[in-house]
Amino acid sequence: MAGAADARASTAAARVVMFPLPFQGNLSPMLQLAGALSARGLAVTVLHTAFNAPDPARHPGLAFVPVPVSLPESVVAGNDGNTKVFDLNAAMDASGSVVRDALASLLNKPGEPRLACLIVDAALPAVQKAAAEIGLPWLVLHTCSAACFRMYGSYGLLYGKGYLPKQESNLYLPVKELPPLQVRDLFDPSELPNQETVQKTMNLWNQTKMNSGTIINTFEALEGHELEMIRGELATNGIAVFAIGPLHKLSPTDGTMTSLLEEDCSCIEWLDTQAPCSVIYVSFGSLTQLSRDEFTEIAWGLANSGKPFLWVARRGLVRGVEKPELPEGFQRALLEGRCKVVEWAPQQKVLAHSAVAGFWTHNGWNSTLESICEGVPMVSRPIFGDQFANGRYVEVVWKIGFLLEGMLERGNIERVIRRLIEESEGVEARERAKDLKKKAITCLESNGSSKLVLDDLVHHLLSL
Ligand code: UDX
Repeated sequence: MAGAADARASTAAARVVMFPLPFQGNLSPMLQLAGALSARGLAVTVLHTAFNAPDPARHPGLAFVPVPVSLPESVVAGNDGNTKVFDLNAAMDASGSVVRDALASLLNKPGEPRLACLIVDAALPAVQKAAAEIGLPWLVLHTCSAACFRMYGSYGLLYGKGYLPKQESNLYLPVKELPPLQVRDLFDPSELPNQETVQKTMNLWNQTKMNSGTIINTFEALEGHELEMIRGELATNGIAVFAIGPLHKLSPTDGTMTSLLEEDCSCIEWLDTQAPCSVIYVSFGSLTQLSRDEFTEIAWGLANSGKPFLWVARRGLVRGVEKPELPEGFQRALLEGRCKVVEWAPQQKVLAHSAVAGFWTHNGWNSTLESICEGVPMVSRPIFGDQFANGRYVEVVWKIGFLLEGMLERGNIERVIRRLIEESEGVEARERAKDLKKKAITCLESNGSSKLVLDDLVHHLLSL
């Protein structure tokens, strides 16, 4: 345990143990919440797998304990983000007492603040089950939007009413109970390979529905209606709902501290050389994969748009290729100084840069929130899971961007980028994005909704 974490623990009223899902998009918000709770005087221990382990040196106020669960290749090196989550839970559950023992080892430690509860990623029901077995109260952190929380919680209804499994004939039907989603926006577990593992995880979820609180990385002014519905639904079970977001702005540490990959900061120097509000930033998060053809179409679509662009072509982005190769002839665009390609960017700093005019994103929830916080409008190209619902909200509810639908083809790409950067619709989307940014700032002020709810959460944790 780090020295600073020791010092904090000796005066803390209680300890909270946290268990993140070990993927970038889930790990970051959990560590951000850990930082926010530690800054409020709680002692925090983070349990983690050896795979994608956070770096304790970057979080001197937190204690870290590795849990020796062995994970299958499909999690460690696999391609499919959805499959990874289900296989990870199966491995955690199969590891029997390992997770339970790690949690139990923190109970009743002499000279230590008492362990109040566990905060665990909502997508880790295997860990929630372990907490239930030792009688440790737990809260779940949802790293998705409130709208997606509702979608994930509605499977009974979605299957019961025939929206799922998806059929060719119903893809464009509105889901009346979850407006403005359409059937094609839903995450459909029945489409995944290895249905046995999927069913096991769904059963674990059902076993652990009751918890001591639900934390969602969102804010009232963004998803007030969805939050109201969730509160109504969970109140019958006495489960408190805490809308605390955007977590990356509530944490005392910046994005660099939670990044699993090294950021290439030369892109900030490159942005400094670009005109204000001129650059399109392109990134598809940490897990998404593309085909070689899609990668090539993106490259030429960006080049042909005539706009400067900063593109994150991370290792593993192209299926079956370690390091994506730019197409032949593309170097010319690079040499003209109109583009910069990096393997991993300091994304939050990029989005905050005055040269950035728009963000072409896969609409992972963190990327979506980070863009909203900086008032940057989006081109949305969801790839899997909750991203489709996020993209729908960007276009239809908040009206701060456009979905790029159909084939990923250079002509379509070029058109949508011009639409966002130079056409009147794009200008209007940018104005609305700036308004939403103001609302995000307000919720973070000392009497703003997220700050107040963070206070409530601390009281709640101390009461457990
Ligand atoms: C996934 C899901 O897609 C997302 O919807 C879910 O809610 C959480 O897990 P991921 O696909 O990686 O995450 O996307 P996203 O949620 O956007 O998270 C990516 C994170 O990586 C962001 O915080 C972003 O700032 C960071 N990032 C990305 C970088 O720091 N540098 C980069 O170059 C690219």
